[in-house]
Amino acid sequence: MRNLYLDNGATAFPKAPNVAESMCKYITEIGSNVGRGAYETSHEAEGVLFETRELICDLFHTNQPENVVFTKNVTESLNILIKGILREGDHVIVSSMEHNAVMRPLHSHMLKNIEITEVACDKMGLIKPEDIEKNLKANTKAVIMIHASNVCGTIMPAKEIGQICKDNGVYFILDVAQTAGILDLNFADLKADALAFTGHKGLLGPQGIGGFICTDHLAEEMTTFIEGGTGSKSDSVYQPDYMPDKFEAGTPNMPGIYGLHASLQFIKDKGLESIRKHEMNLTEAFLDGLKTKDHVKIIGIANTINRMAVVSLDFINEDNGIVGFTLDRQFGIKTRTGLHCAPSAHKTLGTLEQGTVRFSFGYFNTLDDVKYALEVIDQCKNL
Ligand SMILES: Cc1ncc(COP(=O)(O)O)c(C=O)c1O
Repeated sequence: MRNLYLDNGATAFPKAPNVAESMCKYITEIGSNVGRGAYETSHEAEGVLFETRELICDLFHTNQPENVVFTKNVTESLNILIKGILREGDHVIVSSMEHNAVMRPLHSHMLKNIEITEVACDKMGLIKPEDIEKNLKANTKAVIMIHASNVCGTIMPAKEIGQICKDNGVYFILDVAQTAGILDLNFADLKADALAFTGHKGLLGPQGIGGFICTDHLAEEMTTFIEGGTGSKSDSVYQPDYMPDKFEAGTPNMPGIYGLHASLQFIKDKGLESIRKHEMNLTEAFLDGLKTKDHVKIIGIANTINRMAVVSLDFINEDNGIVGFTLDRQFGIKTRTGLHCAPSAHKTLGTLEQGTVRFSFGYFNTLDDVKYALEVIDQCKNL
């Protein structure tokens, strides 16, 4: 049976070619901590850590490596950002397409009396920037938003929203989990105060490493999330107030950093344009092939304009959970079924009851994979 991975929206597989080798090198040949040793291998690891910050800066066209903070994933990044900036009585705006990585920290017991406005998106999962503007209030502290939907792939008008935030003195925090490593994101052009990323999706790196970049202004205003050793200012019991140490307490995930270093280098060598073009070619072929299949409904945008390679389907007369199970056990195709950690997004798209079967293509998929998936979809009737 064929083994076809089409769940790159959850995590990329395979990873970039040198990821495993680079992680293995760290574990077997380096092993040293960073910022806590004066020996050569420690300095070598520090060099890779710094270069990884620089590669993140290259990716987002910025030049402040000290403002790149590494975390374990985008969920941790968003927790640090949300809980670091919101105070009692603040108002925050989100879209109705958010992942729980935004919604759950906003509803955390750690935040008291935060007013949340969820701006409704249309049936395509798209938000209107003017609807953000209409909902601004005197106490609006931040707009926190997904850049592209993990349910249906719709890309949000982030630049326009960033401009509205800037004009109104409101922080703009963008969850780029689904777009980093695929779209060319320019931190300054987006007018964002922070981009929160995860290493294991479009960045093609390992699980357990993620991070965020942020402006000086936001970094200064945010309180710390956790405190601890940094290998710096070791004569003090207080967390350093400078970047990135302010938000990087404890030993970093160095195997993850080595893996991410390799995957970022791979992305840089390939170029975002060719990655994006390939993923859109696959998506176009998939969407074209679906046109003749009456037993499935495409959720959200049915063409390649303004979308990522994440396509959710509703198998109209089937149980989508059973379809996903059949795709895997009978045909070897791995997809994600059900609700994709985004209840409001499913409400917006009308799929809260039945969930979806999500096909998400990655850089290492081929047109032949798409052809096979389309053939198999034909067989997922009357299960
Ligand atoms: C848009 C979006 N935000 C946040 C997350 C959470 O990612 P992670 O589990 O890597 O923190 C995901 C992935 O599931 C996602 O797609």
